[in-house]
Amino acid sequence: MPDPHEHHLGEILLRADNVSQALSGTQILRDISVEVKNIIRPNVQQGQVIGIFGRSGVGKTRLFRILAGLDKPTTGSVFINPDNTHPIPVKRGLVGLVAQHYPLFIHRTLLGNLVKAALRTGCSKKEATERSMEMLENFQLSNRANLYPGQLSGGQKQRGAIAQQLLCSKHFLLMDEPFSGLDPPMVNEVIEYIKRVSDTHELNTIILASHYLEPVVEVADTLWLMGKDKEGDTEIPGARIKEIYDLVDMELAWRPNIAFTQKFIDLIREIREKFGTVM
Ligand SMILES: Nc1ncnc2c1ncn2[C@@H]1O[C@H](COP(=O)(O)OP(=O)(O)O)[C@@H](O)[C@H]1O
Ligand SMILES: [Mg+2]
Repeated sequence: MPDPHEHHLGEILLRADNVSQALSGTQILRDISVEVKNIIRPNVQQGQVIGIFGRSGVGKTRLFRILAGLDKPTTGSVFINPDNTHPIPVKRGLVGLVAQHYPLFIHRTLLGNLVKAALRTGCSKKEATERSMEMLENFQLSNRANLYPGQLSGGQKQRGAIAQQLLCSKHFLLMDEPFSGLDPPMVNEVIEYIKRVSDTHELNTIILASHYLEPVVEVADTLWLMGKDKEGDTEIPGARIKEIYDLVDMELAWRPNIAFTQKFIDLIREIREKFGTVM
């Protein structure tokens, strides 16, 4: 039996250097420097999931827009390595972003939405349709292809939005609050989807942000805690990545029922105690 935890880090897939953002004179993000490296496990094809946990309003969505190349940071820069050759400055379209409310075009069918996304990569209409159908198949949505977003359930819309983003960006996917508004069985289903998507390619990298701690820890290989620093009782403006946990090293990478293990429960308590209300 190979050791399931054996792994080492390879090339850099995404890097943020000293990213800060001020909006309307308020410091939102401060000096965020992070790096995502390929996690290499012998004889295993596996992508990775990075979970960002932070309270509502801390700055997760703002950070995502910068990582996706949709907004420019006030200072600092983001690089990604889309073809596993060398890092380039991020630009719109290289990183998929599944926004909080799964925006699909309401006047297009699910298939129409996917085809439009696939066409953006420059392929032919025929190829775009084939890839879209294949993606719908993967997400068990083939029988919903000709429905409009308004005719889909919340879970189906979310799967549709993930499929759409996967068609237009190569290996990177950012998911903003993927667990919001879901009941517990759906949360588990989404966790399994995220895992399945990340494992379809070695370089697939999913970064998700949520203000729900447990599902983030459950699904993540690496956990980033986002929060603000305090000086005495005063909060210093601007959120940072305050701490990083390597959950693979800690033997807390996802497996069924991990949330029932003592190790998992202890980590949740540790994080809640450590960060308390500062987060
Ligand atoms: N356009 C804006 N101008 C000024 N402040 C903003 C703007 N957009 C967001 N903010 C503020 O930035 C902070 C972070 O917001 P956001 O990234 O949406 O938080 P999160 O996603 O973690 O809930 C919030 O305090 C919010 O009020
Ligand atoms: Mg948000």
